Amino acid sequence: MHVIHRKGWEIPEREATPEQLFLNRRSLLKAGAALGAGTIAPSLSSRVMAAEDPAAGLYPAKASDVFKGAFTPEDVGSRYNNFYEFGMSKKVYVTAEALKPRPWTLKIDGLVEKPIEMSADELIKRMPLEERVYRHRCVEAWSMTLPWTGFPLKKLVDYARPLSGAKYVRFETFLDPKMASGQRSFFAWPYVEGLTMAEATNDLALMVTGAYGKPLANVFGAPIRLHTPWKYGFKSIKSITKISFVAERPKTFWEESGPGEYGFWANVNPQVPHPRWSQASEEVIGTGERKPTQLFNGYGEFVADLYKGLEGEKLYI
Ligand code: MTE
Repeated sequence: MHVIHRKGWEIPEREATPEQLFLNRRSLLKAGAALGAGTIAPSLSSRVMAAEDPAAGLYPAKASDVFKGAFTPEDVGSRYNNFYEFGMSKKVYVTAEALKPRPWTLKIDGLVEKPIEMSADELIKRMPLEERVYRHRCVEAWSMTLPWTGFPLKKLVDYARPLSGAKYVRFETFLDPKMASGQRSFFAWPYVEGLTMAEATNDLALMVTGAYGKPLANVFGAPIRLHTPWKYGFKSIKSITKISFVAERPKTFWEESGPGEYGFWANVNPQVPHPRWSQASEEVIGTGERKPTQLFNGYGEFVADLYKGLEGEKLYI
């Protein structure tokens, strides 16, 4: 993600291209077991994190029957990220170590029967965790495939008991410029995103609590984030602290920070270019491959109906 102020991604920081090691989950689990680790070979920092994480016992969760398949290796997927709170480098995993994901309070408010305030761990324990392999298409024209663990956002909506006046769900990330050096920059902090109620209750919208068979690493937006795989990646807000049910369409971080370039809907469409580049194809991170981009990132069968009657809206920006 970037705005007019920098060149950034146009010169991608290519790490030494890893071997194209696209294993399925089962063989990774087997490999982990063979190593005596019993899970996807964890790094030292993830083992330390897991030991401190009261939700660690919930992983790996049951794999989805529908959303399964090969994914980007972990050393690639967790080393090429966007998390502007911690800077604009793609190697933000280094600075994101400053994030303190526990204790973490999540607020659910706005047009609900009763506002809720609870720890992320408490919420995660109450929700049915499932592992889903999702494609991820960034608006910067690169892509990956990630094995996320989480629960359908619809479950959280049901739990929150919104009132009939609620038309949108608004998500907000923490605001702490002392912890997150990137929040001392000019952007319209905190990071805010939004979905319509119909989008939020679509089965594909996932509240993500883990990746690669364990709790979320900081760089992925610990302890809880969103993933909407039919939309450009910037809709998938990380490290959420507040979820509000509202009547008006929320103004998002990128609409505020990059006016004229980013909109509310941001559905993937190869035929609608970004004002400054084409969206027709994407670089598959870690492989050197460039492949054609698909409408709704290939998830049209699940989501196209959401947009019937909305043809007058800028659905792909
Ligand atoms: N959420 C927050 N809070 N801050 C961010 O900078 N970047 C977005 C999205 N969510 C971002 C965020 C963008 S532009 C992308 S492409 C994805 O996170 C990147 O997710 P990943 O690092 O897990 O691949």
